[in-house]
Amino acid sequence: MIFDTHAHYDDERFDEDREKLLDSMESRGIGTVVNVSASFKSCFQTLSLAGRFPHVYAAIGIHPNEVGELDEEKFQTVREYAMKPKVVAIGEIGLDYYWMEPKAEIQKEWFKRQLDLARELKLPVVIHSRDAAKDTLDILKEKNAGEIGGIIHCFSYSMDMAREFMNLGFYLGIGGVVTFKNSKKLKEVVQKMPLERMVIETDCPYLAPEPVRGTRNSSLNLPYIVNEIAELKGISSPDVINITERNAKDVYGLNTNVKF
Ligand code: NI
Repeated sequence: MIFDTHAHYDDERFDEDREKLLDSMESRGIGTVVNVSASFKSCFQTLSLAGRFPHVYAAIGIHPNEVGELDEEKFQTVREYAMKPKVVAIGEIGLDYYWMEPKAEIQKEWFKRQLDLARELKLPVVIHSRDAAKDTLDILKEKNAGEIGGIIHCFSYSMDMAREFMNLGFYLGIGGVVTFKNSKKLKEVVQKMPLERMVIETDCPYLAPEPVRGTRNSSLNLPYIVNEIAELKGISSPDVINITERNAKDVYGLNTNVKF
């Protein structure tokens, strides 16, 4: 079944039909969803979703554009949240120089602190990196993050960068952008990279794929992404689903039922 490695069902755009939508996933071929926190408030909401839905797991962390709200006390709470049941990763964390807010030094400091937290709790990381490829890579290397592992979410860089992140041991998250006609660079990455390093994601409610681009996204749109990947790689859609599901379970540590 399809594994959505990156969703934001705590977003207010799901307020009207969240329960119904999440309850319908299994019958529509979506087996597992990881809800990824971005703000301090969304950490709590993410845990609540994971508690209510058997197929929803949690990633706990603060997005680079939201780290301005962090202080030691709040970070301590994030740490406590990250030790709760069904938390499978620290994320999304990283660097966003497209929105240079807060300034780079602050983003870097909290990125490093959250990488340390992941190491302490033995959890993989979900990385958000926009217009910041070199600094992201440098910090991951400095922190030996290959030992922690994780996903470069919504991968948007070149094939050369893809190789760098994969050499560190990271998986690349591929979502709706791959279906856009103007995303030549990403289509090339998908063609060339090994399927063994790929996971799929929605980043919903954002980044709905063609032909529903511009609408509210949800995991139910993942077949469009699967089909595009299958076409680019010249393999069947069920193969894409099975291999990316196995990869996602590997990276999030869900291949044994012992932990939960
Ligand atoms: Ni996201």
